[in-house]
Amino acid sequence: MNDAPQTKPLNVLVMAAGLGTRMKSKRAKVLHELGGRPLIAHVVRTAQLLDPKTILVVVGHQAEQVEQAVLAEVGELASFAIQAKQRGTGDAVESARTLLADSDSLLLLLSGDVPLIRAETLRKLIDHHRATGAACSILGVRLENPTGYGRIIRDEQGRFQRIVEQKDATEEERKVREINSGIYCFETRTLFDALRRVEPKNEQGEYYLTDVAEIILSTGRKVEVFTHTDPREVSGVNTRAELAEFENLVRRNAIRRLMIEGGVTFIDPSHAYISPEAEIGRDTIIYPGVTVEGKSVIGEGCVILSGARITNSRLGDDVVVKDHSVIVDSEIASNCSVGPFAHLRMNATLEEKATVGNFVEVKKSRLKRGTKAMHLTYLGDATIGERTNIGAGTVTCNYDGVRKHETIIEDDVKIGSDTMLVAPVRVGARSTTGAGSVVTKDVPPDTLVAGVPAEVKKKLK
Ligand code: UD1
Ligand code: CA
Repeated sequence: MNDAPQTKPLNVLVMAAGLGTRMKSKRAKVLHELGGRPLIAHVVRTAQLLDPKTILVVVGHQAEQVEQAVLAEVGELASFAIQAKQRGTGDAVESARTLLADSDSLLLLLSGDVPLIRAETLRKLIDHHRATGAACSILGVRLENPTGYGRIIRDEQGRFQRIVEQKDATEEERKVREINSGIYCFETRTLFDALRRVEPKNEQGEYYLTDVAEIILSTGRKVEVFTHTDPREVSGVNTRAELAEFENLVRRNAIRRLMIEGGVTFIDPSHAYISPEAEIGRDTIIYPGVTVEGKSVIGEGCVILSGARITNSRLGDDVVVKDHSVIVDSEIASNCSVGPFAHLRMNATLEEKATVGNFVEVKKSRLKRGTKAMHLTYLGDATIGERTNIGAGTVTCNYDGVRKHETIIEDDVKIGSDTMLVAPVRVGARSTTGAGSVVTKDVPPDTLVAGVPAEVKKKLK
């Protein structure tokens, strides 16, 4: 027994095997990034919101990388069909036959290169499909300039007849502005039955998926066109120029949302580059030329000055990031100050009120509360206590040519300018190193050391 269309479960099939010749790229089109994530990731994330049984992705070009991108986004929910040679959209669907053809389900068909499609729109298409009892529902849209798209051809009564591709269309048909978005809902078994009858008899010698609509109609089943009003949402990325337009749109929307709903100030919203996944707190001010990438979180009342880049990092409240600082995979607590021209990376951690000044690099190191490294310093694999001052030109010599070693500096230490800390090494609490010291041995607490190599000069207590 067939389930009624109202209750049939939903599967999603995403076509993503093509190279995308017009991108002029070695990389498969669906791997090109929009808002910091591959195009395919956008599509499968949206598909996931529909709660389908599975999301099947047809892969071909760079199959392995495309699979990785899909798995990273939706994990277990995804499975894959390989289309080794791209012989058209009909053939793409054909490659999923063994996985789907016997399933008594609805099949939502998406393209991997249509990243802006919203779940709400897809739900409307599916609801329309279920309500009308159609075997095939096509998401259509009217375009000012329909060039390149498949046109929806109707009879005199306005009833759907067939889809004709640009290259196969007559002069008259090319004037039609109603196009096929390439998004469809099918009764799965009917689709695979019709697909057997598709032949590559067209200008491009391809198996056109679009031919199934006419075939299904000829068997007396219902084909519906569900007309959508937002062309941008259903359009695909075909060239890098289009990708840049999409990027612009995604970015503008993200910034607008942060301003209107989030209370974030942008000095010049057209010159800020903010990942749609970033969170920024109220009353934070973003200067021109700032880039915030990935899932970064920035707290309230921060000031991020021009040219800063913040990638996959967390900032607390009231943090100041001065011009041209780079912060990657790092964590900065409230009331810290960073830069200008600072570089924090690989899990650099600043606790409250720590300060890192100009030309300071901090790698895989922790600066505890109130500690300062103001100028021209490298801190790698170091743990530095509270209220410690790191003088200008200090270097943790963490690499002996073979391995990395740790430096530990305890609370209330004064590291003199130009100190070389040859790791592994520890400097005890309240100690001081003289300017130009080369510290090769552990320094006990409350001790002044100086020289090359550094010797104990006196006890400070
Ligand atoms: C298709 C439609 C067209 C519609 C347009 C909307 C057909 C014949 N035409 O045309 O009516 O207006 O989309 O964008 O379907 N793919 C594969 N394997 C293949 C071929 C394509 O996986 O063998 C994938 C592509 O990677 C892409 C999607 O299918 O993600 C669409 O393919 P594309 O070549 O862009 O189709 P269009 O010619 O644009
Ligand atoms: Ca296309």
